[in-house]
Amino acid sequence: MVVRVGEHLFVNGDCVQGALEHLPDGCVDLIVTDPPYGIEANFLHRHYNRDERFVVGGYVEVPKEEYGSFSRAWTAQAARVLRPGGQIYVVSGYTNLYDVLGALRASGLREINHIVWKYNFGVYTSTKFVSSHYHILYYAKPGGRRTFNLQSRYANDETGHSGGSANYRDREDVWSINRDYKPGRIKNKNELPRALLQKMLQYSSNPGDLVCDFFMGGGSTAAVAIGLDRRFAGFEISPAIFASRLPELRAVVPGELLASVASPRAHVVRHRGKTWSDSDEDALRGRYEELSAAGKTKEAIVAVLAREFGRGSWSIRKRLKIILGAGIR
Ligand SMILES: C[S@@+](CC[C@H](N)C(=O)[O-])C[C@H]1O[C@@H](n2cnc3c(N)ncnc32)[C@H](O)[C@@H]1O
Repeated sequence: MVVRVGEHLFVNGDCVQGALEHLPDGCVDLIVTDPPYGIEANFLHRHYNRDERFVVGGYVEVPKEEYGSFSRAWTAQAARVLRPGGQIYVVSGYTNLYDVLGALRASGLREINHIVWKYNFGVYTSTKFVSSHYHILYYAKPGGRRTFNLQSRYANDETGHSGGSANYRDREDVWSINRDYKPGRIKNKNELPRALLQKMLQYSSNPGDLVCDFFMGGGSTAAVAIGLDRRFAGFEISPAIFASRLPELRAVVPGELLASVASPRAHVVRHRGKTWSDSDEDALRGRYEELSAAGKTKEAIVAVLAREFGRGSWSIRKRLKIILGAGIR
């Protein structure tokens, strides 16, 4: 089943087939995904301290012996659909990490970071250490400009709670982010926390970008992407999970999260009041044309340019009008 909601695409089906049918080469700016673990996730509840009545059934696992070929098949599609410079974050447990790493390397994508996500989880063990982290493999497709919004969450000169640089702290490669606590509410087996997804999307995409999730599960990537005013395309093979979460996804208002996510203080507008030089204007025109040719909306373009040029949105709009006259869409 294929469902289109505005500019967003939700496909109930296999991600490899779905990508081949719906995503042309190079059309995706960012993939954030969390593949099945190949560890009999249907028995995960034995470890989790939670009420299973609210967990949606129908999770589709991949047999351990197929995990290598499965990983190579979907990462090859991911590499194909990413634009040059496009990026991917893959969340993986330790058990089959070897297969995921092998597949990513074979796909021709380039490693940017290995991030450790430290969570609070409720996995109880008494005879060994408690498992409390996941791996996040952050890769990019070579050959194009990579989006990394250095000050999207904290300005360079912002001080954090501990007195050090908030920006530096936020960009360390160990992230401590708690799972969302949703007592009595419907959830997927392994729902990723919104804060984790927001962080990846804020650093590695811009409003209007196409964000994709090959394994949607409960649709957490979709909800955050749309909430941050990105476009979304995703796949989920389980009819039960797909059907149960679609109404929530339809109800997400584009941009509804923008006001609530971490954002730098106003002084990140570092060139406020500075005169525009000829070379500033040339660079602004060039970047406007690039984003416009990529099909970004006017709102998205202004947001990106404001961040990249360290100016307020008003200043960007005014300068574009001067440079392009009626040309601004
Ligand atoms: C770890 S979960 C994703 C959880 C999701 N990130 C969330 O926050 O809810 C993996 C999902 O992939 C789905 N899946 C398994 N094989 C698939 C395939 N070939 N194509 C698309 N989805 C698949 C499973 O049914 C499961 O819902």
